[in-house]
Amino acid sequence: MVEKKKIQTPRGLKDVLPEEQKYWFHLENNFYAVAALAGFERIILPTFEATELFKRSVGEFTDIVSKEMYSFKDKSGNNLTLRPEGTAGIARAYIEHGMHTLPQPVKLCYFGPMFRYDRPQAGRYREFYQYGLEILGEDDPMVDAMLIQTVVRYYQKLGLGNFVVKINSLGSDRSKTKMIAALSRWLSAKKNELCADCKLRLRKNPLRVMDCKTAGCKSLLSHVGSILIDSLDEESKKRFTKVLECLDEMKVEYELDPTLVRGLDYYTHTLFEVVVRGSDLAICGGGRYDNLIKQLGGLHTPAIGLAGGVERTIEALKAQGVVIPEPVKAELFIVQLGDRAKAKATEVFEKLNAANFRVATALGRGNIQAQLREANKLNCLLVVIIGDQEVHDKNVIVRDMKDRSQETIIDRDVMRIVAKKLEEKGIRIS
Ligand code: HAM
Repeated sequence: MVEKKKIQTPRGLKDVLPEEQKYWFHLENNFYAVAALAGFERIILPTFEATELFKRSVGEFTDIVSKEMYSFKDKSGNNLTLRPEGTAGIARAYIEHGMHTLPQPVKLCYFGPMFRYDRPQAGRYREFYQYGLEILGEDDPMVDAMLIQTVVRYYQKLGLGNFVVKINSLGSDRSKTKMIAALSRWLSAKKNELCADCKLRLRKNPLRVMDCKTAGCKSLLSHVGSILIDSLDEESKKRFTKVLECLDEMKVEYELDPTLVRGLDYYTHTLFEVVVRGSDLAICGGGRYDNLIKQLGGLHTPAIGLAGGVERTIEALKAQGVVIPEPVKAELFIVQLGDRAKAKATEVFEKLNAANFRVATALGRGNIQAQLREANKLNCLLVVIIGDQEVHDKNVIVRDMKDRSQETIIDRDVMRIVAKKLEEKGIRIS
């Protein structure tokens, strides 16, 4: 007999199993709650777009575009790419739907999968989820600070501690050009110390040398000193100072990081990342992209945004031992003891379920202890117990799983009484 080879998830991908769901709920629900309070509206964009969109926005010589894209031709020969990030699609959608005619700024939030052919390791996946916030049509430095404050609030709500916001500025377009020229001069003098990839980057896009992860280039770059920040023109410096003052007023803590440039070409002015102390992987990154929409054919539209990694945030919460509330999988559990009771239990189950109660049973089990153990595992709040005696007396027993008190009630009152008891526990069935 030919042994069949097991099929497994492709490298760098993963299943999110039921036991992990509480983290995902915790992140997604709190994300949308915090975003809605801050005035963001939800948007869902396609998971693949024209390859050209990412080349023209993220930049052809970035690692993301040059090495990490999942690109393919469809059956009509269109060049498409699984989105490696969300901002390019947001900018495309802003132009495509004429969002400049809406009251500005337009504030959008999203939560969804991204795809990068990265080297799989802890915190690096080939399919990963991001939560993202984007504010388009406003260039006030206060907006930069408010965006950072929103994500800090989100982390506090999640229960995450020990993180730091690292911040820098690339300045205006002119400043950035000057900065790239200064960096290029500095790097050219040390060309022989660069890795092969960086020699190419130096010719094509010198700023991207700053993203290099090889030990030799990293050590060289640690001596780059103030070249970057010295290239900021007066206007850009003033703007950056204003952002920092706003953060101070909001009591949002940050650390200046003059070497932070982030690996995407669309940034100008403010750049930031959130890092959990002791880790070198960012849980979140963002910045201004004032030229992107014009570059893609729209009107000049200043914008800023951020995206965080869901898996990395969950890993940080786990590492810090943050306790996530166990979701109640079912409010009620019906225990049945005996054949007549089983038929009655099915009837009560249908009745409660139709009235929107989350009800569980273990019809295959006979023993009361085994059934109560199941109810415990599901975090059920109340248990309805039906034995043959109760069927005969037209009663049921309602047991409170927390204080273990029990009450015998007339069976036709079951719905009213369990609804009342659940309401006392803060659960209203709609
Ligand atoms: P990014 O820094 O490339 O920025 O990604 C944002 C976050 O996504 C990272 O901080 C990290 O937490 C997570 N992430 C990135 N790659 C991976 C991976 N391979 N595995 C797991 N998590 C990953 C952007 O994507 C920009 N679009 C952010 C932005 C929005 N800028 C302005 N608006």
